[in-house]
Amino acid sequence: MRRLTDTWNLAHLTVPNRVVLAPLAGIGNWFVRLQAQRYGAGLTVSEMVSSHAVHYGNEKTCTELLRIHPDERTTGPAGPVAIQLFGQDPDIMRSAARTVADAGADIIDLNMGCPVPKVMKTGAGAALIKDPDTAVAVAAAAHEGSGLPVTVKLRSAVKKGEADGFELARRLVHEAGVQAICFHPRSAQVHHKGEPDLELAKALVEDLPVPVILSGGMNEPAWIVDAFEFTGAEAIMLARGGLGNPWLFARLLERYEGEPTRDEILDELDWVLDRAVEHLGADRAGRYLRKFYPWYVDRLGEGKALQEALQATGTIDEARAVLAPLRPAPTAA
Ligand SMILES: Cc1cc2nc3c(=O)[nH]c(=O)nc-3n(C[C@H](O)[C@H](O)[C@H](O)COP(=O)(O)O)c2cc1C
Repeated sequence: MRRLTDTWNLAHLTVPNRVVLAPLAGIGNWFVRLQAQRYGAGLTVSEMVSSHAVHYGNEKTCTELLRIHPDERTTGPAGPVAIQLFGQDPDIMRSAARTVADAGADIIDLNMGCPVPKVMKTGAGAALIKDPDTAVAVAAAAHEGSGLPVTVKLRSAVKKGEADGFELARRLVHEAGVQAICFHPRSAQVHHKGEPDLELAKALVEDLPVPVILSGGMNEPAWIVDAFEFTGAEAIMLARGGLGNPWLFARLLERYEGEPTRDEILDELDWVLDRAVEHLGADRAGRYLRKFYPWYVDRLGEGKALQEALQATGTIDEARAVLAPLRPAPTAA
């Protein structure tokens, strides 16, 4: 029987296990990927990055979003790192993909599933499901530009009840040489709501000659293992279920049992604060982490008061001051 702890192959790469960090816009920077690796993730994917911004040399994009930290090469199973690009112009994609290869990525993942109107109205993200000729040209260009294995993350369809993402996945593999499909079997119309269509994912796994990585609904270990077994997917991808919950990676990989203690959660949050400062400097890190705090507050089982106190902080020092009283004072010997 296949296990999540087994290795697998993606093109010429060996991936050390079958638990993958999903791309998460505005979140999946190097330290979030590194955190997932510390808990065992075998493959990590960056947040989506604009191919146009890379092509035109936008400074923040190129220095922050394309940054791969040396620790990602040595931590945990030190599996491959994929950078996810979005865009609908093959020439721009070819150029951006070259820059991403120079930045040290192992894989280029292409976003053909983003349902956000700002992205779709440019013809990128899930809009490519309705424009398969362009999608195939973009994927081929990403490989030409980078020489790297290209994977595509896409949805089952744009509209509920349709399945044209399935047909596009086949064309991407057979015509553009895409090396794996990350399949999120929900339509763009429902964004992230509702049950993923595991029957459709299973059919795709049976149809394609390349690995399918399954995304969607990955919150509970038992459900995740059932979905992995039922669909026959090569690997599974954690998205919302892993936010502020890196222990989910470790539980699935049989490295951790049960729930983290309060001290473990607070230690982890400390690690995040330190790394955010390393990434963005103390000022920007203080504001950036406001979107991270709620995940850890929930995991701590704390409520509104702590949430509001952390949201009111502007600096890392203020956040540390809010968190300090949550640690029990050391008892006198
Ligand atoms: C906050 C957030 C950001 C996301 N950003 C991206 C992204 O940049 N690229 C992408 O392909 N999918 C993105 N997704 C989709 C996830 O990778 C995943 O497919 C989706 O959340 C379904 O998995 P889940 O139900 O286990 O959360 C995002 C989802 C969330 C919630």
